[in-house]
Amino acid sequence: MTIDLAVIGGSGLYNFPGLENPTRHSVETPFGQASGDVVIGDFGGRRLAFLARHGESHTVPPHRVNYRANLWALHSLGARRVIGVNAVGGIRADMGPRVIVVPDQVIDYTHGRYTSFCDVEGAEVRHIDFSEPYTESLRRQLLAAAATAGIAVIDGGCYGATQGPRLETRAEIARMKRDGCDLVGMTGMPEAVLARELELEYACLALVANFAAGCGDEAEISIEEIFAHLAAATAEVPRILANLVKS
Ligand code: HPA
Repeated sequence: MTIDLAVIGGSGLYNFPGLENPTRHSVETPFGQASGDVVIGDFGGRRLAFLARHGESHTVPPHRVNYRANLWALHSLGARRVIGVNAVGGIRADMGPRVIVVPDQVIDYTHGRYTSFCDVEGAEVRHIDFSEPYTESLRRQLLAAAATAGIAVIDGGCYGATQGPRLETRAEIARMKRDGCDLVGMTGMPEAVLARELELEYACLALVANFAAGCGDEAEISIEEIFAHLAAATAEVPRILANLVKS
């Protein structure tokens, strides 16, 4: 099966608007169950595969997502280019609510997650290069697709991946800022590294839902506000990806 583009939807993106003639695929993987069925359909005259990272009813928290099964399922269905759509908090001043970012670096603060396909008895141990955690050519295509759609997107930024599901403390975000993080999210890793192990092209489309703890004016971060901002940013995603799927 040819798949022109695979999309892993994050918080706020549980199905892909405009996907025509959808078929559902429940994939058995050596790593267990993916977050749900992969839905494959026609989009802009091409084949697009969609998987909801947290499940279609948002029942899988970030630290319990079976990232290995998700990537394996997409790969086994024939996907070679994957866009991870991720809700994030903004740390950098110009990365406020509703801003869209295509990050170019990652710092991983998660723990206790399976971060490699080598993590099984008898598997060959591989030390892959991860200097550039995202596929630069796909990042470029994604940025060009957004530009064609007339949607402003920030090129580059460091994604700090935290464990969740709770949001961070102000001190944690202050430390992440000192480390050089521009964004914070709970699902960027190990998804990116597992994609690399499978030699998938992978890039992240980060949707800023809120200023991270201590970065905005509010004393507290409201979940209602997060989802309102996310809904607005998510509405732009199909327009961006409509151009990407064709490229
Ligand atoms: N922190 C971590 N993940 C997030 C945030 C945040 O502030 N907002 C949306 N996803």
